[in-house]
Amino acid sequence: MAIPDSFIEELVARSDIVDVVSDYVQLTKRSGANQFGLCPFHSEKTPSFSVSPDKQIYHCFGCGKGGGVISFIMEIENLPFRDAVAFLARRAGMEMPDEGDDKALQGYRARLLELNRQAARWFYDNLSRPEGAGAVEYLKKRALTPKTVKTFGLGAAPDDWYALTNEMRKRGFSDQELLDAGLSKRGKGGGLYDVFRNRLVFPVIDVRGSVIGFSGRIIGDGEPKYLNTPDTPVFSKSRNLFALNLAKRTKRGMLILAEGNVDVVMLHQAGFDCAVASLGTSLTADQARLMARYTQNVVIAYDSDGAGVKAAQRAIGLLEPAGLKVRVLRMEGAKDPDEFIKMKGPEAFELLLERSANHVEYRILAAKAKYDMDTDDGRLGFLREATQILAENPSPVERELYAGRVAEMIGVSAEAVKSEVRREGRIRAASDRKKREREVMRPEVTAQPAGKSIRYGNVASATAEEGIVTLLMADPQLVIFTGELRAEDFTSPFLGKVFSMIKERFSAGEEITPAVIASRLEPDEAAHLTGMLQRPVNLGQAREAMADYIDKIKTEQLKRTGDRDLLAVREKYQKKKGLGG
Ligand code: GTP
Ligand code: MN
Repeated sequence: MAIPDSFIEELVARSDIVDVVSDYVQLTKRSGANQFGLCPFHSEKTPSFSVSPDKQIYHCFGCGKGGGVISFIMEIENLPFRDAVAFLARRAGMEMPDEGDDKALQGYRARLLELNRQAARWFYDNLSRPEGAGAVEYLKKRALTPKTVKTFGLGAAPDDWYALTNEMRKRGFSDQELLDAGLSKRGKGGGLYDVFRNRLVFPVIDVRGSVIGFSGRIIGDGEPKYLNTPDTPVFSKSRNLFALNLAKRTKRGMLILAEGNVDVVMLHQAGFDCAVASLGTSLTADQARLMARYTQNVVIAYDSDGAGVKAAQRAIGLLEPAGLKVRVLRMEGAKDPDEFIKMKGPEAFELLLERSANHVEYRILAAKAKYDMDTDDGRLGFLREATQILAENPSPVERELYAGRVAEMIGVSAEAVKSEVRREGRIRAASDRKKREREVMRPEVTAQPAGKSIRYGNVASATAEEGIVTLLMADPQLVIFTGELRAEDFTSPFLGKVFSMIKERFSAGEEITPAVIASRLEPDEAAHLTGMLQRPVNLGQAREAMADYIDKIKTEQLKRTGDRDLLAVREKYQKKKGLGG
């Protein structure tokens, strides 16, 4: 029995790949839009397993495995497709479809979508009828053009309690359908009435092009200003975005997130075809993930009032975890993008966008504005601040470029600024180095490799120690390659204990299995060990791996005992070998 595509689609949408993979893989690194961790399907020491939050796929650059969230579960849980779907459905709190029911539901959804489509068309057509005159005038007042109206399919809900309800009944839609689509409500007397009255109507169209709901702005003043379709079998406010159906085709390589529908429509009209908005609620994590499917960059253009700033901060907290690069526009002198564009024009908005894109320049200009550039003190203060901004920029090209600009601003040679930036860079590097050294010396650093309650004093060494124990558990014969390594060399008493147990049992010819070893450990130690043993082991290069681990342990030991000369020689040697540590 086949699982309906719609179910699979919803399941995939609700099973964020980063969430799912994170149950199995620690994603420790970020590079571009991707997150990296150690591949669960082959053994490796540096992460080559990548997860793309926007593409919702994984791929291992080491072993070549890859796919979507369902194939990940099939692979890692070793399940056939249907069972993997059921597994994810449980995780997402979705009930597996019963085919009969689902067909009926699908049919009903299609019916509601058709009702919405016809309603949208009817609202639109009202603009050319007398009952839409108020809306037409309002559109003019808001400077929205007929072309924009057409692009968005804007329409008019007449100032009438029954116009839409009666029209749709005439076309054969039932009262239940009207209620379920959120277009009509039942009054006290039992009859239906229109939800949208005397409003400018914005249809909400999903990325597949279906009209799933409506947003209605009151014409003129009145309460509530906006009215939105409630959640229905075809509409979820928290999982859709207004205008994403248009914005998904943008060539701008970003999405602009605005607050108001009017802002979005005005932005599109002004040539910013990448604008979207949430639907009458604050942004949700689902919406952030939805955006991440279409772009890597989001520019927040919320209202410039206090509430907008707060909402922007909240939004950043949802967008960044979805793997998005976020920038925030600062619209000075206007309350929102709509007003900004009306007052200053699209070019000014374009400039705002560029400025936010060009972070370095923006920060330098902001710094400059703080100082009186006519005085030596002011220029020096600015130079100091600009130097900081440049020194933390990882791109040599940008450092060079902007050092030149800064030099021009204060009237000194570019070389002078560059040498200041280099000096600042050296100071930073030295302080970073000290910080790293302090970290190495710190006795209690918590690592969370496998179990929970085992703490490691020296993570670098303990990681290597775990590597050795894992290899030995997989193949005890490898003990012969551990050479002079002793339990005392281990920084983790627990791992040292396991190591000597393995060694002793090996020379006594006794059995070495996880069960046997674990039975001789404390419960938290045993749990940690079995956790470690869940990771795949590649015995193909076990000897080399063993040598690297021992090397690492010795190096860390030297760092502790403090023979710095020996350490320096060793590090140089390792670098040559390409090990680095
Ligand atoms: P105007 O420029 O005043 O026409 O409105 P706007 O489109 O700029 O919207 P505004 O900034 O006032 O509000 C932003 C968003 O918040 C709107 O698009 C709605 O989604 C939502 N919103 C505003 N007022 C209401 C309301 O009264 N009820 C609900 N449910 N949502 C609202
Ligand atoms: Mn507005």
